[in-house]
Amino acid sequence: MARLTKIVILAISVGILAVLWRDTFEPEILSGAHVLLTGASKGIGEQMAYHYAQFGSELVITARNKTLLKQVEEKCLHLGARKVHSISADMSDPKSGNQVVQFALEKLGSLNYLVLNHIGYDPLQMWGGNAEHTSWLMQVNFLSYVQLTAAALPSLIETKGSIIVVSSLCGKIAIPYAASYSASKSALEGFFNSLRHELVIQKREVSVTLCVLGLIDTQTAMEKMRARGLPIVSPHPAAEAALDIIRGGAIRAKEIYSPWWVEGIVRTRDWFTDLKDMFMHRYFRPMDGQ
Ligand SMILES: NC(=O)c1ccc[n+]([C@@H]2O[C@H](COP(=O)([O-])OP(=O)(O)OC[C@H]3O[C@@H](n4cnc5c(N)ncnc54)[C@H](OP(=O)(O)O)[C@@H]3O)[C@@H](O)[C@H]2O)c1
Ligand SMILES: *[C@@H]1O[C@H](CO)[C@@H](O)[C@H](O)[C@H]1NC(C)=O
Repeated sequence: MARLTKIVILAISVGILAVLWRDTFEPEILSGAHVLLTGASKGIGEQMAYHYAQFGSELVITARNKTLLKQVEEKCLHLGARKVHSISADMSDPKSGNQVVQFALEKLGSLNYLVLNHIGYDPLQMWGGNAEHTSWLMQVNFLSYVQLTAAALPSLIETKGSIIVVSSLCGKIAIPYAASYSASKSALEGFFNSLRHELVIQKREVSVTLCVLGLIDTQTAMEKMRARGLPIVSPHPAAEAALDIIRGGAIRAKEIYSPWWVEGIVRTRDWFTDLKDMFMHRYFRPMDGQ
């Protein structure tokens, strides 16, 4: 084959691949979308609320702190949200999930997006045998996600909507000082990856997007790192992580990573494990007396 023909074929193939792989996110589809967002009083959830507001979505936001929720609500309206309501709820109560979804359905009529993002407070500490705390954290970080999903699924099936689950690199690769947290995040993976298969088998067009985040610069995360005496190396901005999550949900991706290089860490997690463990044990060495 002539050289020129080869070059032309290669160029066309690259062009086709570029079209197939292009970012198909169209913010317009979020205009008027009905969104229930948890953990929206601060951190990444708060930033997601502002993005959805700017895209013209109708929002119900939840967390425990009413004062903070009201502030986020006002800012959302200012930014262009069509509608925004908030409800205070503590997800350590197994009844909260259903109550919050019923409130959202009352206010919005239906749901297009269920965005599961909240987490219970868990400092970076050795697991000292407190099974009670692990159980509490599993309720807040995992079981409440299941309870919210159970209540929202009928509406999501009707609207061919989306479930967005915010998880962490810790759900893929465990680190020390986060046994309960890592457990809750891997539990999310198991549950929601299985649910995604079941929805497909039943021909129900509800997408499930799992979001694998690296270190994000929220106040909670930064304070936890400092309290543990860990060096903070270029954390990813919360507003950017928030947009990555929203985009992933809107394009109905199965899994997204934020920042982007987290994908490389996940895909190579079984390479040189002994060597990586050695570095990890060095990086996470105990502080004096702890
Ligand atoms: N920041 C990171 O480095 C990082 C890394 C990987 C993954 N992630 C994931 O990203 C998500 C958000 O993290 P973030 O750093 O933004 O956290 P954050 O700033 O601490 O925010 C947590 C949110 O959850 C709410 N919340 C806490 N306890 C609750 C409870 N018992 N019931 C209901 N709501 C509760 C908080 O509001 P109230 O206190 O008002 O209830 C707040 O709105 C989490 O799923 C986390 O695992 C974060
Ligand atoms: C809500 O958050 C504000 C600001 O961080 C804080 O001052 C207040 O004590 C919190 N309220 C509750 C009930 O925790």
